[in-house]
Amino acid sequence: MSNFFSEKVLKEIKKTESEIVMKKKFLSENECKELLEYFRNLKNKSIGKSKSVDREESTKIFFGFHQSEFLKKLKPKIEEYIGEFFVNDFQPHIITCRFPLRLHADSGKNPNDVIYKNVIIPLEIVYDLKQNINKPPNTLIFKNKWYNQSSLFTKQTSNNYDFIIKDKNNNFVDIINILDFKEKIQNISNEIFSYNGNEFLVNERFKEYIDSLGKTKRYNARTDKHILNNKDFDKKDYEKYMTHQPYEDCQSLEIDKVISWEIGSLMTWDRSRLHCSDNFLKNNVVSKTCMAFFTSKTKT
Ligand SMILES: [Fe+2]
Repeated sequence: MSNFFSEKVLKEIKKTESEIVMKKKFLSENECKELLEYFRNLKNKSIGKSKSVDREESTKIFFGFHQSEFLKKLKPKIEEYIGEFFVNDFQPHIITCRFPLRLHADSGKNPNDVIYKNVIIPLEIVYDLKQNINKPPNTLIFKNKWYNQSSLFTKQTSNNYDFIIKDKNNNFVDIINILDFKEKIQNISNEIFSYNGNEFLVNERFKEYIDSLGKTKRYNARTDKHILNNKDFDKKDYEKYMTHQPYEDCQSLEIDKVISWEIGSLMTWDRSRLHCSDNFLKNNVVSKTCMAFFTSKTKT
């Protein structure tokens, strides 16, 4: 692979690598509930440099560990399990996902950063209780590693403009090129628009939303360089977990662990690891919320 990290930094990164950690009941259910309430009631949800994000598929609230007494104590409590850490390049956040995250690695953007652990703490799972089946969401962590900048892994690398939006029946729909979509709805107002078999109610608000997506700058690069051999991904695992991602993107992947979400558990893994959500929509999960941040071993 290319030399994103210098030899010295890469050596430091590899020295810190370890097994995946899952510590059950790290926080109590009550602590999780209070924490969520605290964040959702904040007037200012954009602490620090990052602006809060509220999209159909996900909502992000950014925070700093100095923001509250509870958060001040939380950092050393996590350090008891993973050792001292710093957060350098992407602010800690609370993320609510309504569409499963695809295959990616949170390896950052700084070649001098000694990247360390991904940390997540599940805080809330909302189920569609009208359905018979309700199973908790899973995080899949692969044996495959990535020592380049933060990336989304897919063979669809032709553009940076794919988004997931809701149609008029509240189904999540993949729009491969939002700019093409925007052009097609330009002269429509207050009408139903049909696009690749899905229907959208196009009004001014919807148009403004699509326009804002087209201007969004992505954090992750896109690449298919994660594919290292011709080994096909297990079809059963694909059907069970990964149907939100094209099958061809899973080539050469090897699952290390599938971690079922438990509220208040502490989950950590090396930032070089490829990971993704399972397709929780299949198990009638409406949304899942966790605390998430990417740590480093040195301060940059
Ligand atoms: Fe991630």
